[in-house]
Amino acid sequence: MPAEKRELVHPSPSVVAAANVQNLDELRRHAANDLEGFWAERAREFEWSQPWDRVLDASKAPFFKWFVGARTNIVHNCLDRHVRTARRNKLALIWEGEKGDVRTFSYHALNREVCMFANILRSMGVKKGDRVTIYMGRIPELPIAMLACAKIGAVHSVVFGGFSAEALHGRIEDSQSNVVITCDGGWMNGKIVELKKMVDEALKRSPTIEHVIVVKRTGQEVQMEAGRDYWLHELMQLPIARGQSGGNRCETEQMDAEDPLFLLYTSGTTGKPKAILHTHGGYMVGTATTLKWVFDLKEEDRWWCTADPGWITGHSYLVYGPLLLGATSFMYEGAPTYPYPNRWWSMIEKYGINVFYTAPTAIRGLMRFGEAWPNRHDLSGLRLLGSVGEPINPEAWRWYHRVIGKERCPIMDTWWQTETGMFMITPLPVMDLDPGSATLPFPGVEVDILDEHGTPVATGEEGYLVIKRPWPAMLRTIYGDPDRYVQQYWSKYPGLYFTGDSARRDENGHLWIIGRVDDVIKVSGYRLGTAEVESALVSHPAVAEAAVIGIAHEVKGQAIHAYIILRSGQTPSEELHDAVIKHVAHELGPIAKPEKLTFVTQLPKTRSGKIMRRVLKARAQGLPEGDISTLEE
Ligand code: WTA
Repeated sequence: MPAEKRELVHPSPSVVAAANVQNLDELRRHAANDLEGFWAERAREFEWSQPWDRVLDASKAPFFKWFVGARTNIVHNCLDRHVRTARRNKLALIWEGEKGDVRTFSYHALNREVCMFANILRSMGVKKGDRVTIYMGRIPELPIAMLACAKIGAVHSVVFGGFSAEALHGRIEDSQSNVVITCDGGWMNGKIVELKKMVDEALKRSPTIEHVIVVKRTGQEVQMEAGRDYWLHELMQLPIARGQSGGNRCETEQMDAEDPLFLLYTSGTTGKPKAILHTHGGYMVGTATTLKWVFDLKEEDRWWCTADPGWITGHSYLVYGPLLLGATSFMYEGAPTYPYPNRWWSMIEKYGINVFYTAPTAIRGLMRFGEAWPNRHDLSGLRLLGSVGEPINPEAWRWYHRVIGKERCPIMDTWWQTETGMFMITPLPVMDLDPGSATLPFPGVEVDILDEHGTPVATGEEGYLVIKRPWPAMLRTIYGDPDRYVQQYWSKYPGLYFTGDSARRDENGHLWIIGRVDDVIKVSGYRLGTAEVESALVSHPAVAEAAVIGIAHEVKGQAIHAYIILRSGQTPSEELHDAVIKHVAHELGPIAKPEKLTFVTQLPKTRSGKIMRRVLKARAQGLPEGDISTLEE
């Protein structure tokens, strides 16, 4: 938070006049005084086959329940209800491949694909509650597969296509999936990412998998194991795809509002990623309401969320949120700079994108190529911009605002997490902005900033960010580990949700997120656990011990700096340095590659043997080491 007095950025009158939400103060008051009534009003915008008996059940907190007793299916609200109306011929999805190939899906066409895919899954024996792992490139079949699972009540677990076979194996095993959906390969930066090959490697040790459905995308030769692996395009030709009643229809399974919708693995303090569980009812109400209010989506808008569906941002705001609102989404397969750094800007022009949502790391990366690239394109269709994933530094904010938004488009800096499912701290289009601040909590969300003892800190002081009241899209548990759910999120301050972030509040009441206080590093907005990277490091035969810290990086925000102690008999060398880095990429995925690797003979540890990463961090930044009284001799 800059110390000097700052000028707030006021929204332009045209944006304010058009905003979906005009009576923000009234809505805030309503939510503060009657949280259940506030969310019930939002929930009534959806179709439920059975209404709720109670909006919120907190009797078994922190295992909260929302819309208790209600029945619906998120896919019913994403597709079924739209295809009954004039929206059936509206575009739901426009997709462009990295090589420039284009596919479009109306709501009718998307629904048809989802129904056929769902019929195939059902015919393979997938039923309500079963887990299905999805590991794909950014192609339309990825959202189609997610929706097909949800439609029949199966629980999808999407694993980001940039993860390694090892990471995929761990997630398949933990979720006990029976089916994997993948593609032969994905295009990224003009090269093929060999996804099917990774699946083959992962499945060598995953006996639970019965079937693998493979989408043909890149066309190179892949191994197909008879009786296990099937091409999707061949399955789609079979009578099973047409469904029991024929006509490519498929009945949508009616779900309890609290039935699981998906698992999504994310990194935390231990080496083992945790599966965050979200449900049909509350998640639906939370994601759709936040998208409609914050990004002000209109019937005629074209929305582009650049996130990969393998992350929560893709789940909530590329797949579910926009479809719930009946919006038109754009999705792009490849790299932002392929073949040139104007690729994104050219597509904003080509498809007439109105609302654009991306991450600070992408903005900083594209900023480096200069203004000439975006300036070659007509970006006048843009009305609103968004940012997510890490604090946006004011320099990137101003560039984004001036060069991309032409000082006309406000930037919605949305703070939230895999766990929260929906935006939690964010401006709305009618609000004043302060570059670098996510401003205020969404209506109904109450936060505080506390010190170690649970006392609220003074204005301007740093403390732990907590959430004080439940919200509908909140995680329900960590799949298979309810104790860890309680311990991780609800134990530091009983009754309050602990975010793992530190923050400050300024004299305007605006919130400034500082960063993670746990052992999570945000590399290019991707969430990685130090313990995961450390365990990948020590699995190299030459490495005895390892410690990892996040260091500031101009484009990535944070990068990984690894310190390793070699086993006796091993000597540091350039080859070993490179081999260890390569090993991490193989174990976890290229995103986890250390930026810097230092050979050391000792690591700062407490007397009980815990590595003091704080001390390493201070040393790396040339800062004082703080209290080191617990450091071993
Ligand atoms: C960080 C991503 C500052 C934060 C949706 C959080 C942010 C973590 C912002 C969650 C933002 C996300 N400003 N920090 N606008 N958005 N973060 O689970 O540290 O991948 O706890 O969810 O990202 O990361 P996750």
